[in-house]
Amino acid sequence: MEKLFLSYNQIHQTVKEIAGQIEADGYTFDHMIAIGTGGFIPARMLKTYINRPIIAVGMAYYDLDDNKMDAPVVTQWLDDPINQIKGRRILLVDEVDDTRSTIGFCLERLLRHDPLEIAVAVLHDKDKPKSREIPVQVKRYYRGLKIEDRWICYPWDAQDIWEQDKQAVWADPPTDS
Ligand code: G4P
Ligand code: MG
Repeated sequence: MEKLFLSYNQIHQTVKEIAGQIEADGYTFDHMIAIGTGGFIPARMLKTYINRPIIAVGMAYYDLDDNKMDAPVVTQWLDDPINQIKGRRILLVDEVDDTRSTIGFCLERLLRHDPLEIAVAVLHDKDKPKSREIPVQVKRYYRGLKIEDRWICYPWDAQDIWEQDKQAVWADPPTDS
């Protein structure tokens, strides 16, 4: 599959666009829940625009040898779901909506704790069949970019960040900002 290389600057710009969507929509939330590890850096970038605390949860679908497992595994969860979720407005942040297994699994678990509202923000939504629907309770879904089904190489996975930058295809800053 053809790879799509992205730079940190491109990711930052995409996060800024998501922040604009959230603000235009008037969604205010108590905190973000970042799905690790891919959601951690996007959540921190989003905090620059919308300053809310970040709670980290860990889910893995690929093991340490990069083999895909049968189901997502929870590697880290909330310390105090009653205080952190019940009656709260949450923004769930992840880098990519691919098959949606991890995001769907995480949403189902969070909904058990009775949030007032959960919205989802992803940098990239791949245009492909999804293994799950977004639960009906989730009314707001923010995506930075909808992209064709390609393997995205994120800058935080790069061994050589300068080489990554050279391969990033939309390296020019947007002309209207
Ligand atoms: P989804 O719910 O987010 O759609 O993800 P899905 O379960 O289909 O796949 C989960 C794992 O696959 C996630 O990593 C996600 O980051 C990774 N993934 C899916 N598509 C891409 C891609 O195009 N590029 C990269 N780099 N990763 C992709 P994970 O193993 O669960 O954990 P982590 O890598 O976030 O630590
Ligand atoms: Mg990943």
